[in-house]
Amino acid sequence: MIPKSKVIWMNGKLVAWDEAKVHVGTHALHYGSSVFEGIRAYSTPRGAAVFCLDQHVERLFNSCKIFKMPVPFTPAQIHDAIAQVVRDNKLQSCYIRPLVYRGFDNFSLDPRTSPVEVAIFAFEWGSYLGSESIRSGVNVGVSSWRRMAPDTFPALGKLGGQYVNSQFIAMEANDHGYQEGIALDVYGNVSEGSGDNIFVVSGGVLYTPPLGSSILKGVTRYATMTLAHDLGYSVVEQNIPREMLYIADEVFITGTAAEIVPIRSVDHVQVGAGEPGPATKKLQQEFFSIVQGRVPDRYHWLTFVNDAAPAKAKAPASSRRSKRKGK
Ligand SMILES: Cc1ncc(COP(=O)(O)O)c(C=O)c1O
Repeated sequence: MIPKSKVIWMNGKLVAWDEAKVHVGTHALHYGSSVFEGIRAYSTPRGAAVFCLDQHVERLFNSCKIFKMPVPFTPAQIHDAIAQVVRDNKLQSCYIRPLVYRGFDNFSLDPRTSPVEVAIFAFEWGSYLGSESIRSGVNVGVSSWRRMAPDTFPALGKLGGQYVNSQFIAMEANDHGYQEGIALDVYGNVSEGSGDNIFVVSGGVLYTPPLGSSILKGVTRYATMTLAHDLGYSVVEQNIPREMLYIADEVFITGTAAEIVPIRSVDHVQVGAGEPGPATKKLQQEFFSIVQGRVPDRYHWLTFVNDAAPAKAKAPASSRRSKRKGK
């Protein structure tokens, strides 16, 4: 279960964790009319640092634009609110979930008459697929569920309703004993995992599906491609046939939740030597040394929450009272 933090940012105010509630008639609960982000902050020698905050805020607003949801806050306000939530909850390594959703008004299938609400919460969180997954890798299977065709749902938007597809992929993978499921796109090419992007290493070149393969434009995918270029690898975005996963030297997945996770086998077919390969290990090492502040942040990927501008949202009455009492 998600561990409780102290406060949650809701529509510009901080409320106590247990008070962050919505009405059962909330449009998003019925129809998936929401947009969200998944962001990580890492513990560094300079305190908690949010990874690629600008990129996540930009994607959040792009998703809202796609879904015609006018956000009642500016990107700068959301940026500051995210830093504030980490800071005020005194979190270090944590997962942050900004959520923009259609609230309670009516059940019209044109959602634009329902209000747009915003919440941001954060909590301490380890690795999504288990810490062993990062070290030793995981076994995955190709799902019988495809990603959406381009003219059905907008894959570039991180919209709540689209995650029903991810849930089918994840359930099937777990039922078959895999730690993650890899979905094909509607044309039968490799698309992505239920919650992560995929890379294949073959002959020293990195391959990853293009945006047209119904993938989310992952922030960790972008960071991995940047690191790979700088490590001297060619990175090619191209259609990937399923069987390329079986004959690759290395396969790994990337995502905010998963981070960078080696794949040991696909459909019970061993990938390479069946253990994390040299390119995957190098990328993991580069990635973790930057996000954990062990080497200089040469890409300006980190936002140190204690350096951020003073926050504007008010603390809930209960925590203001306890501060006055000196607790
Ligand atoms: C479907 C899907 N693909 C890919 C990703 C990876 O994206 P990111 O690296 O921005 O977390 C995620 C996670 O957000 C996802 O849900």
